[in-house]
Amino acid sequence: MAERHLLIGNWKMNLGPTQAREFASTLAHRIPALTRTDVWVCPPTISLSAVCDELRRSSISVGAQNVHWAKSGAYTGETSPDFLKDIGITFSLLGHSERRTYFGETSETVAMRTESALAEGITAVVCIGETEQERMAGATQKVLQEQLEPVFKRIEATTALRLVLAYEPVWAIGTGKVASLEDIAATHQFIRGLWTNRGYQCQPTILYGGSVNPQNFREILGIKEVDGALVGGASIKLDQWLDLIAIAEATGI
Ligand code: PGA
Repeated sequence: MAERHLLIGNWKMNLGPTQAREFASTLAHRIPALTRTDVWVCPPTISLSAVCDELRRSSISVGAQNVHWAKSGAYTGETSPDFLKDIGITFSLLGHSERRTYFGETSETVAMRTESALAEGITAVVCIGETEQERMAGATQKVLQEQLEPVFKRIEATTALRLVLAYEPVWAIGTGKVASLEDIAATHQFIRGLWTNRGYQCQPTILYGGSVNPQNFREILGIKEVDGALVGGASIKLDQWLDLIAIAEATGI
């Protein structure tokens, strides 16, 4: 298990540059000193520079919501890892279920993006998770394994250190439904098993995501296999986000 909690806010396609700057500025003023939690935020691409400016002197890291595998070229609409590094970005989400569902992202392209991000020194937060249908069919473990295999094939033990996994059941994202504590624990154990079988020596950081809020977070973070959370909706409501940070700070590792 990781030595610190990790809390990542995924702003999705919310908060354009002006709003994002204001939000980041208030967050920087109100965030407490952190002793056992790392707080990261992922604004939309167009707001990254503004948020980086605001948070440069804070303890909060800024990341992208996706990154391309090539450093430059004919890839309209994509973002190179070099461009991200140019403005001080240290990590990126990869394979979020909304990318997979609406934009045709496959586990193979997620793996290519992940490999490139890690090679360029950008920490990769790879999102995996089953749909409700897959869950009902008892296929959760098979789906997670299929999503992770192409990533594991491309990632060496030396770079695995900078790989974070986020388990987000698709049916729990933005729906108010949360997996049971037993299911979260069992699935995280399963993912840890896949990691160990791959032969990586380091321990993975594994986050839970899907309708995390200040009411349910304490219990979820209390599960020993869970290192933190990837949060959507509650990460752009300042009071809720600060409550989540306070819970992470108050919860033992
Ligand atoms: P949610 O989103 O917290 O709004 O369910 C989580 C995510 O999409 O990462």
